[in-house]
Amino acid sequence: MLSIWTDIQRRRLLRSGNIPKHVAVIMDGNGTWAARRRLPRTAGHARGAEALRRATTEAAALGVEYLTVYAFSTENWKRPKAEIDYLLNLFLKYLREKVPDLVQNKITIRFLGGLKKFSPQLQKLMKAAEQKTTYAAKPLLTVNVMLNYGGRAEIVRAVNTALQAKEKKLTENSFTRYLYTTGLPDPDLLIRTSGQLRLSNFLLWQSAYTEFWFTRKRWPDFDGRLFRQAVRSFQRRQRRRGALRA
Ligand code: IPE
Ligand code: IPE
Ligand code: MG
Repeated sequence: MLSIWTDIQRRRLLRSGNIPKHVAVIMDGNGTWAARRRLPRTAGHARGAEALRRATTEAAALGVEYLTVYAFSTENWKRPKAEIDYLLNLFLKYLREKVPDLVQNKITIRFLGGLKKFSPQLQKLMKAAEQKTTYAAKPLLTVNVMLNYGGRAEIVRAVNTALQAKEKKLTENSFTRYLYTTGLPDPDLLIRTSGQLRLSNFLLWQSAYTEFWFTRKRWPDFDGRLFRQAVRSFQRRQRRRGALRA
């Protein structure tokens, strides 16, 4: 049957339900996407950047407040230098070209992770993008790009920072102040593409009660329709957090 439903109607229906405030995404499967098309892995990364734009647009349209994406892990340095260089150049290109779009759409961008490991040029562009996308009013959406990020590294860094600050006794609440994600609510929904069913060191602390949604679709094929599918699945779930059903 031909559907007469438009994307706008579908979004409206979803928006009448519970929209996840914070969505985290493990953007996986770029390399496999390319290999299946007999293309170099890097072609998959280039297409992956377009998928990120689609995800951002859909998140904003649905009323998601925070979109946190895993762009480069602390373990991704184990990859061939050529692939790493390609990715770093892609980040540079994104920062040079896409910031005006973000400003026009009132989207804030933040970069979180061990950023000091990147070139001064890249660090400068990241800082400039953050500044340019800081507004007086509340943004439509905040996109957190996790770079040289690892959940374990983040926790150890938090402990060391707390020790330096001479903290005597931490609580779960005060500890979160030392994480990269300080000030952000925990993710409500985590999406991972490409059929891999693991966290790969992403948001270990923050995802304690996050709802997971997996798809076999690879990241370069991700679109608004898949995003809405994930949100629909989220809306059908009952979050109990250890208690009994309401
Ligand atoms: C995700 O795609 C992008 C990054 C990790 C930077 P992959 O590069 O991991 O692609 P697959 O998983 O090998 O297909
Ligand atoms: C996780 O994907 C990291 C990013 C998406 C940036 P990986 O492809 O690096 O994870 P593994 O190696 O399959 O666990
Ligand atoms: Mg992968």
